[in-house]
Amino acid sequence: MKPMIDLKKQYMEIKDEVLSMLNEVLESSQYVLGKRVMELENHIKKYHGVQEAIGVASGTDALHLSLKALGIGEGDEVITTPFTFFATVEAILYTGAKPVFVDIEPDTYNIDVSLIEQKITERTKALLPVHIFGHPANMKNIMDIASKYNLKVIEDCAQSFGAYLDGKKTGSFGDAGCFSFYPSKNLGAYGDGGMITLNDLHVADEIRKLRNHGSKGGYRHECLGYNSRLDEIQAGILLVKLRRIDTYNNKRRENASLYNSLLSDAVITPVEKNGAYHVYHQYTIRSNKRDFIQQYLREHGISSVVYYPIPLHLQEATGFLGYREGDFPVTEQVSQEVLSLPIYPELDEEDIRLISEVIHKCLKG
Ligand SMILES: Cc1ncc(COP(=O)(O)O)c(C=O)c1O
Repeated sequence: MKPMIDLKKQYMEIKDEVLSMLNEVLESSQYVLGKRVMELENHIKKYHGVQEAIGVASGTDALHLSLKALGIGEGDEVITTPFTFFATVEAILYTGAKPVFVDIEPDTYNIDVSLIEQKITERTKALLPVHIFGHPANMKNIMDIASKYNLKVIEDCAQSFGAYLDGKKTGSFGDAGCFSFYPSKNLGAYGDGGMITLNDLHVADEIRKLRNHGSKGGYRHECLGYNSRLDEIQAGILLVKLRRIDTYNNKRRENASLYNSLLSDAVITPVEKNGAYHVYHQYTIRSNKRDFIQQYLREHGISSVVYYPIPLHLQEATGFLGYREGDFPVTEQVSQEVLSLPIYPELDEEDIRLISEVIHKCLKG
């Protein structure tokens, strides 16, 4: 079976550097929040042109700790998209705040900014856009709305490391940018990890406390916090991969461009809006014959995945929010039609040609 992602292939290319980094970390006997985490934070902060970067244990924690540090809690409302990974909404719910959904754009699958203002109430405290699949959300309009209504902005950049809009990186627009280093992400560790980028030094201090049991050190605890530390092994691996992230993203873009040229007459291919630099965490096509295509690909030994089959307003876990089928028509239709194809940087050109050919064959019957 041709896989969705081949992490072993990538590992074999960087094996020597990774093993030598691992050896360094293991011999240093400093395993959590040490020199490499600081080095990674410094590199990521420069990469994004922000004042602060803080390593945490996962992308989910990055969102949760950012929301908490920005003062979001019980009784507050946070506007977000129903077309994302569940963790986006979990993080809001962890704080006691209520997620308020807004439908998405049919082309980028990002939050539809024209629908945000009608959902703002006196309880709205923050906007939480997700740069879904690696395409930046419309941050210019989002920041305008936030400043008009005095709202915080937390960017979910789990899928968008390296993406930018008019030259400005995702994660550098809002009050906090939240990244995931889950292994399959564009910048992926060999375990869990996350990072928060931001400019406010006071909020950064709060997050540093929250990630370490409410303590700045010395067994003095100023508040209840969490154990959400990034470890040195993951930071070391991420340092090795960070040197290559632009090359990896470029490779994804080349793969996407070849798919586009081969598939645009058969299915709806992804768009890249003016000024946007898409990093194709996923290459997601759309067709009303989606299930048929997926089955046909499977029969021909090709993996594909539906991200996401059930919108978040229709999940069992969010039933208590009271949403119904029909509330977000674009999201609901898109969920029936999207299919993500293999796009990882090491994917061979022949595989892209083969996958595209199989899709054509399938649709011709
Ligand atoms: C959009 C989105 N948000 C949040 C997360 C959560 O990140 P993590 O798995 O590192 O907790 C993920 C990925 O898993 C994601 O894709």
